[in-house]
Amino acid sequence: MAVRMDFGPLSPADLDAAAALVRQGFGIPRENFERSIALFGTDVLRGLRRDGQLVGCAAVWPMDQWFGGRPVPAHGVAAVAVDPAARGRGHGSALVRGVLEEARASGAALSVLYPATLALYARAGYGRGGVSFDWSAPPAALLDGPPPGDGTVMRAAPRDATPLAALRRRVLETGNGLVERNEGLWSFALCPDGEPSDLFLLNGPDGPEGYVAVGAPKRRSLVVADICLLSRRAAKLALGFLAGYRAQVDRLRWRGGPDDPLALLAPAPAAAGGVAVDAREEWLLRILDVERALSTRGYPAALTAELLLDVADPLFPANGGLFRLFVSGGRGGVQRVSGPVTLPPAGVLSLDVAALATLYSGHRGAALLRQVGLLEGGDDAVATASLVFAGPSPWMPDRF
Ligand SMILES: CC(C)(COP(=O)(O)OP(=O)(O)OC[C@H]1O[C@@H](n2cnc3c(N)ncnc32)[C@H](O)[C@@H]1OP(=O)(O)O)[C@@H](O)C(=O)NCCC(=O)NCCS
Repeated sequence: MAVRMDFGPLSPADLDAAAALVRQGFGIPRENFERSIALFGTDVLRGLRRDGQLVGCAAVWPMDQWFGGRPVPAHGVAAVAVDPAARGRGHGSALVRGVLEEARASGAALSVLYPATLALYARAGYGRGGVSFDWSAPPAALLDGPPPGDGTVMRAAPRDATPLAALRRRVLETGNGLVERNEGLWSFALCPDGEPSDLFLLNGPDGPEGYVAVGAPKRRSLVVADICLLSRRAAKLALGFLAGYRAQVDRLRWRGGPDDPLALLAPAPAAAGGVAVDAREEWLLRILDVERALSTRGYPAALTAELLLDVADPLFPANGGLFRLFVSGGRGGVQRVSGPVTLPPAGVLSLDVAALATLYSGHRGAALLRQVGLLEGGDDAVATASLVFAGPSPWMPDRF
């Protein structure tokens, strides 16, 4: 008899079974699972049933992810887990496919996740999208003379994230890959262990220019839960503030990207026991809708360019094909090409949807992708793509 597989939402009655899957998948204790459900709601949970029995689960939620200064509709994915007794039989692949089909149907252009295993997601069309760094330093390595006289550090109540989101908006606009936090992601950022962190605003003469949220010093270590630095003054205030913990802790830890302001301004070089990268995690990006993804992100404002992209998407063939991308004034226009093709001066780039994700996010450039065989095209097309997708290295501090 044929086995029946169903993908769909979970109900509160499935919570025990889902908690067991997540526990076996990630070692997440029940109380942490409950906390996530309280923050994100049961609506985010999806399940895969085999003849009615839950064999896999995942969490999905909509959120915008910023590229080139503009928000792109995306779906975050987390907690993909299959019953240990049912692994290696295609359930994980079916679950991921269900997640992607639903996200495509809802109009999301991108899907983003942190992988524990690459093969499962590579096969589903995910490519490397960007990074999340764990930085650390002894506090003394950040000691940089007296703080700026025209700035103050002021304790604030972390109850309401709205003013913080307004400050952080500037980082989203000027960076690449950062996600717009919903209430759950703000709570994870400001209360990483369920404990509220202490929030300090970094003020200039006209108001806040950044903030730093820290946990309580523990075991001679201080974790910076969240940080946002919009000016040199804010960065200098943060350096002085964090260096002030040097009598209490041996190590400060924070999350950031490759272009981290504290790491850039710290006076002590790494060789002298200064700032170090403790971990580097890569997140994956899946382009669910090529036209929407290319036309909603932003591009370098001064550039006018035209590029023909020949995209293969084995999982969703309707998402592949030939696309003409026009870039001008910071925006991109996309036309699907069918019938006879007029080649633009730069020619055509051929790549699969996973390599397009890596190019799109700016994680890796067209020249490197061609060098390692993930993209094909002439020199002019590669040079044009390098300009079109140029920008800051994509990163995000949020882990999910
Ligand atoms: C990863 C996981 C979801 C795969 O589920 P599954 O039902 O075994 O997946 P499939 O049978 O569809 O296999 C798809 C691919 O996943 C990978 N995979 C399968 N089992 C795996 C395992 N135990 N560990 C790592 N990768 C695995 C393989 O590359 C496999 O391809 P292959 O069969 O060609 O080798 C499952 O092993 C799991 O729940 N692991 C613990 C939680 C986890 O790591 N989740 C991913 C987090 S992002």
